[in-house]
Amino acid sequence: MSAPRPATVLPVRGTSPYDVVVGHGLTDRLPALLGESVERVAVLYAGSLGELADPIVDALVEHYDVLALGLPDGERAKTAPVAADCWEALGEAGFTRSDAVVTIGGGATTDLGGFVAATWLRGVRVVHVPTTLLAMVDAAVGGKTGINTGAGKNLVGSFHEPAGVLCDLSLLASLPRAELVAGLGEVVKCGFIADPTILEVVERSDPAALTHDSPELRELVERAIRVKVDVVVDDLRETGGVGGHPGREVLNYGHTLAHAIERTSDYTVRHGEAVAIGCVFVAELAARAGSLDPALVERHRSALSRVGLPTAYDAESMGGASFEDLHAAMKVDKKARGSQLRFVVLDALATPRILAGPGEDDLRAAFAAVASAG
Ligand SMILES: NC(=O)c1ccc[n+]([C@@H]2O[C@H](COP(=O)([O-])OP(=O)(O)OC[C@H]3O[C@@H](n4cnc5c(N)ncnc54)[C@H](O)[C@@H]3O)[C@@H](O)[C@H]2O)c1
Ligand SMILES: [Zn+2]
Repeated sequence: MSAPRPATVLPVRGTSPYDVVVGHGLTDRLPALLGESVERVAVLYAGSLGELADPIVDALVEHYDVLALGLPDGERAKTAPVAADCWEALGEAGFTRSDAVVTIGGGATTDLGGFVAATWLRGVRVVHVPTTLLAMVDAAVGGKTGINTGAGKNLVGSFHEPAGVLCDLSLLASLPRAELVAGLGEVVKCGFIADPTILEVVERSDPAALTHDSPELRELVERAIRVKVDVVVDDLRETGGVGGHPGREVLNYGHTLAHAIERTSDYTVRHGEAVAIGCVFVAELAARAGSLDPALVERHRSALSRVGLPTAYDAESMGGASFEDLHAAMKVDKKARGSQLRFVVLDALATPRILAGPGEDDLRAAFAAVASAG
């Protein structure tokens, strides 16, 4: 057996720099990320993940006065009442500005915990310990936090950059395969928009061997985080990119249709699965309304299906939406501006731009190309 590889530290520059640490068995790095002034730590963790959270809480108790708060699982944590319960608990414990929050869970937990940290005393330090692939490569990095309201997802939130992110790949051992595969949707997306080496790793790896302990998964995680970090640092507040680059909006590749599929399926289609279909859709769109090489459209299908993601919209199993339903849902996406639909499209590999207001014929034809026959 070879010696365990040391952790990889990915620095995030910007107004408040922090590190994303990737590796195995990283709990002892938490105090360094939390910083020296911290006395009390509130651990906000997904209640169903007690077995993952307990050893981390035990390690923190050695250094800090710890308040451990178990949250409802997944999306049920992202509500105003849950945030209010956390505020009350922090208030009772007398949390001050020099205390900190640690989140342990998937993206729903890091979003809620980040929001609580952003709002308590107008902002205290937070370190995220993501436990899903999606949260490692996406939700925990970049400083967006949020909760849902009755009117939709992520409508209330704030930008609040973490003081650090600890991506301990060992935590993925218990993650159901379908959740891991869904996270790979965002990873492959990063391959198309910015880092083609990601696609090469996917294409040469045995997909079944992409597990929590595989060097290939680690390389994919590190590369996808780098893509997100680079984009976010260049465009911290989503005001746009420079030189024709879409800025942070590039991370929305495949997401306009994906959000419509999620919504019309009442969120029974996983985000990463919907993103996979959305990426094939925008590739088809770019081949029609732009100049994307058809071979690259096929590469979308082959890379995404290789890791086990859907590349076609199957109305029967995905909520039964028609093109008209999905078109209408896309128009109310919060990322649409005014009445004009905007899509991130590629002119070539890793060459993204914005396509605003494509014709309905092109949209319909691109959709027909991703709709399953039958
Ligand atoms: N802030 C951002 O920039 C950003 C970006 C992308 C997504 N998000 C948000 O992230 C959320 C989705 O994240 P997610 O896919 O991680 O979902 P999630 O947090 O709901 O987790 C998915 C499921 O996996 C379980 N789970 C998590 N880790 C596990 C583990 N190690 N072992 C076993 N089970 C485990 C959870 O309990 C949950 O049931 C959404 O709310 C989305 O809005 C935010
Ligand atoms: Zn996404």
